Parts: sequence; structure tokens; C-alpha cells
Amino acid sequence: MVNKVKACFFISGNGTNLSAIIKSSRDNSFPIYIGLIISNNVNAKGIKIAKKYGIPFKYFSHKNKVKFERDSLCEMRKRKIKLLCLAGFMKILSSNFIRCFNNKIINIHPSLLPKFKGLNTYKRALKNNEKFSGCSVHYVTSKLDSGKIIKKRRVEIKQNDTEASLKDKILCEEHKIFSQSIISIFQ
Ligand code: GRF
Repeated sequence: MVNKVKACFFISGNGTNLSAIIKSSRDNSFPIYIGLIISNNVNAKGIKIAKKYGIPFKYFSHKNKVKFERDSLCEMRKRKIKLLCLAGFMKILSSNFIRCFNNKIINIHPSLLPKFKGLNTYKRALKNNEKFSGCSVHYVTSKLDSGKIIKKRRVEIKQNDTEASLKDKILCEEHKIFSQSIISIFQ
């Protein structure tokens, strides 16, 4: 049994990556456990997942970004969080917030970074006639989707792929590389 690090997850939506990490973290040798989930969306399906597994969660509105970040930081400090994982969190964090958690924030992004930073990654990959796309896990810095890459996974784009089918294929890989990335940063 390893001495697990306490992690917080920020989510905005379905929380499928969150679910994948919850499963991985049941393994005694997995380096983290989830001690807090914060959602900026009161209707996020991920909140149901938090409830189901009895993981402490908070909803903080993002209407006031300064307050969202202040409340989140306060909760994270109170609970002695050592790693923050952004899993489908659809807001950009301020450089001040990022500085407070220097090098301890990771994000999962649905493209092969540095290609297609930001939104609409599937659409842009298809429009660009890319042969491959994929997903990346990276450290978060104040520059959007630009921090050091931890792991990437490639998927082939077939002729009949649509945004929806590409999203499904990539999401499937996300669920694997997020756990693998967490393992690798503690090795
Ligand atoms: C994922 O594709 C992730 O890469 C992106 O948002 C999507 C949401 O995934 N940042 P999830 O089901 O909420 O984990």
C-alpha cells in the first residue's frame, strides 16, 4: 500500500474521466485518492458520481471567477489537497490561482497538443484533414493548454469519422491515459 496523495478534481460536465480515476484509485498501489470534487456547474453529472461514491464535493458558481477561485483554494487548503486534476473543467484558471498550486495542476485535453489548443478540437481536426488526433495530459500553466506534456495518446481518424465518433474514440483513450499520467508523475 502506497502513501496516497490527496487530490481534488475540478469538473464541469459528465465526469467520465473522474469515474475512470475513481476506479483506478481503488487499487492500493494507485498514488492518489480523491478527497474533494469541485464543480462550477450545479447540473454536472459528475456531482452524482461524487454522491454515489461518498466523495466530498462542492459546487461553486463561476459567475464571479475571483470568488470561485478563492472559495476553491480555501476548501482545498482546508482539506490539505496536494494535487489538482482538471477533468472536463471548462474554465480558464487565473495565473494567480495557478501560482498558488505551482506544478501541481494537471489537465486532460482532447487533442494532440500543441495542436488544437482551446475548444472545438474534434471539428478542427476533421476540417484540417488530420490523419490522427488524440488526447494529452499536461501540467497547467497560465498559458492555455501549453504546460509540459505528461502523456499523449493517438487515435486514427477514419474517412467516415464525425465529430461525435471522434469524440467517443478519444474519450476512450482519455480514460486510460489520465490514470497512466497520474501514475507516471509519482514515479
Ligand atoms: C473531455 O474530452 C476532456 O478532455 C475535456 O472535456 C471532456 C469532458 O470529459 N477537457 P468528462 O466526461 O467530463 O470527463
